[in-house]
Amino acid sequence: MFIKTLLSPFKNQPWFRRLNSKITYEYLAKYVPAEDWHFMNYGYMPNADEPTLKLDKEPLQVYPLRMYHYLALKTQIEGKTVLEVGSGRGGGARHIAATMKPLQYTGLDLAHHAVDLANKIHQLPNLKFIQGSAESLPLADNSVDVVINVESCHAYGDVAKFLSEVKRVLKPGGYFLMVDFRYAKDFELLQQQLRDCGLKKLSEENISDNVVRAIEAEDPAKRERIQKLIPARWQKLFCEFAGVVGSKFHSNLKDHTRYYYRYSFMKPN
Ligand SMILES: C[S@@+](CC[C@H](N)C(=O)[O-])C[C@H]1O[C@@H](n2cnc3c(N)ncnc32)[C@H](O)[C@@H]1O
Repeated sequence: MFIKTLLSPFKNQPWFRRLNSKITYEYLAKYVPAEDWHFMNYGYMPNADEPTLKLDKEPLQVYPLRMYHYLALKTQIEGKTVLEVGSGRGGGARHIAATMKPLQYTGLDLAHHAVDLANKIHQLPNLKFIQGSAESLPLADNSVDVVINVESCHAYGDVAKFLSEVKRVLKPGGYFLMVDFRYAKDFELLQQQLRDCGLKKLSEENISDNVVRAIEAEDPAKRERIQKLIPARWQKLFCEFAGVVGSKFHSNLKDHTRYYYRYSFMKPN
């Protein structure tokens, strides 16, 4: 509690957001290297009118996998060069690379340990993971057909810089697919950044309710995993971080003090 109060004035500082996410995700990949923990997003429960996703074998984290699946359905992936920014432990990259036939899928993440873990546990000929920053993408101009970004850009120091990097690396006619959350009070800033980024908005959906339903459906399995993987003294803190039912994140989405949105954009020709 004392540490939380001490850090609260810095929370909106770009350097603090960068440092905080670097430490958190390096630590998680290094100290919890569980090879069956593939996702770090809150999950998605599809709408009744979305196509059913049939899987040969239901993965442990089916709702976080669906977050990726239904986002990627917003464009054609087959034969395309895809860059994912903030690929984490690589489960979404693996699902798309294995089932949607991209020519090449590159997952990029700030956390070295997450990149090493993803390269170790997901090995496919059209898939690789590299370390780098969303704010300075190590790719050539006009080189990528699709950029994917799942629950990551809230952690960046400079979101406008990230969006300018997305525009730079996308080929004309390329797609940018993104899902993320913001506090209601910060949502207009995100909307402004997206309006100013030079990409053409194709769709925008408030998926907060889909995420709430996924959190509730996944809750027993999530709590069981936390008990198995996380040392006892960290479990309470981790339950908050992971967004179990009753956590601040879950309550905020339900009472509309936070929103979770899904977007698709195209770079003009
Ligand atoms: C909530 S996790 C989501 C991971 C993954 N997209 C998923 O859904 O499982 C956020 C990820 O963004 C990464 N990240 C944070 N800041 C970043 C930055 N500036 N550049 C690249 N990745 C970043 C973190 O290391 C972390 O892996």
